[in-house]
Amino acid sequence: MKTLILYLSHDGQTHKIARAITAHLTDCCECDVVDLHLAQDLDLQRYQRVVVGAAIRYGRFAADLDHFIAQQLEWLHSIPSAFYAVNLTARKPDKRTPSTNVYTRKFLAKTPWRPDLCAVFAGALCYPRYSWFDRVMIQMIMRMTGGETDRTKEVEYTDWQQVSAFAGDLAQLTAKQAPPRP
Ligand SMILES: Cc1cc2nc3c(=O)[nH]c(=O)nc-3n(C[C@H](O)[C@H](O)[C@H](O)COP(=O)(O)O)c2cc1C
Repeated sequence: MKTLILYLSHDGQTHKIARAITAHLTDCCECDVVDLHLAQDLDLQRYQRVVVGAAIRYGRFAADLDHFIAQQLEWLHSIPSAFYAVNLTARKPDKRTPSTNVYTRKFLAKTPWRPDLCAVFAGALCYPRYSWFDRVMIQMIMRMTGGETDRTKEVEYTDWQQVSAFAGDLAQLTAKQAPPRP
């Protein structure tokens, strides 16, 4: 099954997770990893399975996520599909499931897309790479939530075992049955 992994990433962690999922799938199938912004250049009908990954910034997924879903809803529902969210709230294990992660829960409640599989991964904290404003804001949020406040640090919270378990579940997602003829 040719699999498409689309990602929306600002600082690279969501893309890194997409590449890790691909590495797990190479034994069973062909996989393309593509920035969601470039999805309009793709022939989506060539794929039999799709994964969409998106990161949170200031409480929101990029608006392009909703636009893509609105445009491609029928296609998303025609093949096995999966979604993963990436954020720092998920560094706490009790905030790392679709129902306990506030951003993912709200997204799933609102979106018309019904992915067959959904996961929430902890992202990365990269103070030295942020703009001055973002660094100050993230440090403030980390201080309020008991996280890392040293502005010289880079911390990767992603649980790579969780990512490989997700890839394993994904490999089990097989072709959808065609709806019965009327
Ligand atoms: C400017 C900025 C705002 C962020 N806002 C949030 C937030 O509101 N909630 C949260 O849990 N994580 C937040 N994060 C953490 C990101 O989701 C995390 O760093 C993730 O790994 C980013 O993924 P990316 O590298 O693919 O862009 C923020 C990060 C940055 C840099």
